[in-house]
Amino acid sequence: MMSVAGRLTGRVAIVTGAASGIGEASARRLAAEGARVVCVDVSEQVQALSLELGDSSVAEIADVADDTQVDLFVRSALDRWSRIDILVNNAGIDGQLALLADGHQENYQRVMDVNLRSCWSTMKAVLPSMVAEGSGSIINMSSVGALIGFENLSVYSAAKAGMLGLTRGAALEYGAHGIRINAICPGGVLTPLAESFMDEGTYKAWADKHALKRFARPEEIAAVVSFLASDEASFITGSSLVVDGGMTAI
Ligand SMILES: NC(=O)c1ccc[n+]([C@@H]2O[C@H](COP(=O)([O-])OP(=O)(O)OC[C@H]3O[C@@H](n4cnc5c(N)ncnc54)[C@H](O)[C@@H]3O)[C@@H](O)[C@H]2O)c1
Repeated sequence: MMSVAGRLTGRVAIVTGAASGIGEASARRLAAEGARVVCVDVSEQVQALSLELGDSSVAEIADVADDTQVDLFVRSALDRWSRIDILVNNAGIDGQLALLADGHQENYQRVMDVNLRSCWSTMKAVLPSMVAEGSGSIINMSSVGALIGFENLSVYSAAKAGMLGLTRGAALEYGAHGIRINAICPGGVLTPLAESFMDEGTYKAWADKHALKRFARPEEIAAVVSFLASDEASFITGSSLVVDGGMTAI
């Protein structure tokens, strides 16, 4: 899908997990459509992306699992650009691959904190300014793992399902303020996260689970992010858009 030049001109976006994969593609796409983008990541690599995007971008190195760091990058975005129109809660980890009974307590906590707590804390931090503006679009990057089970990834699935609950509840609470809150449930996307649990041999088996017999490119998810962020999605809220190449069409 081609980017729509100018569709997001004047908007300010925060994208978490912007150093890699879907987050990086989303930051690039939002910037290409005219948004100013705060690129947040725990990895310093995010600075290179921000430099590439130029004056309309700034990098924030932060751990989204830490509420204090979340508050700081949101405050910093508001100090710099006075508003936040778009929040893409994308940073995520799959964590330890293990049967439920073999999983470590620390893994449970970290997977929940990075995927789910950050979704709550980041929305909590940006919503007051969106309410003051009377508008906003929040996009929470969930997963098909919220809809169907995957062996050895039950904690990840639980965190991603929790994100759908936060999305629906918050959409009901803030719709009257002109704020739309949606989730995206991608299927397999070829990014470092997906590659971390797949060797070359298992790619085909996973690809075959999709009707389209392949994984998505990160840009195919970023196209949906930019659509949901834009006014073209003006009547969509509380939804989870399944972007999975037919993986859950069975
Ligand atoms: N790749 C897939 O197949 C797939 C499928 C469904 C959903 N998702 C979801 O999409 C999102 C992006 O995944 P991806 O595949 O692009 O992953 P990725 O590993 O390529 O990128 C994730 C980025 O998040 C950053 N990050 C991780 N923990 C962080 C933290 N605590 N604070 C700030 N930044 C942090 C990483 O440094 C990295 O840059 C995740 O939430 C993931 O669960 C991915």
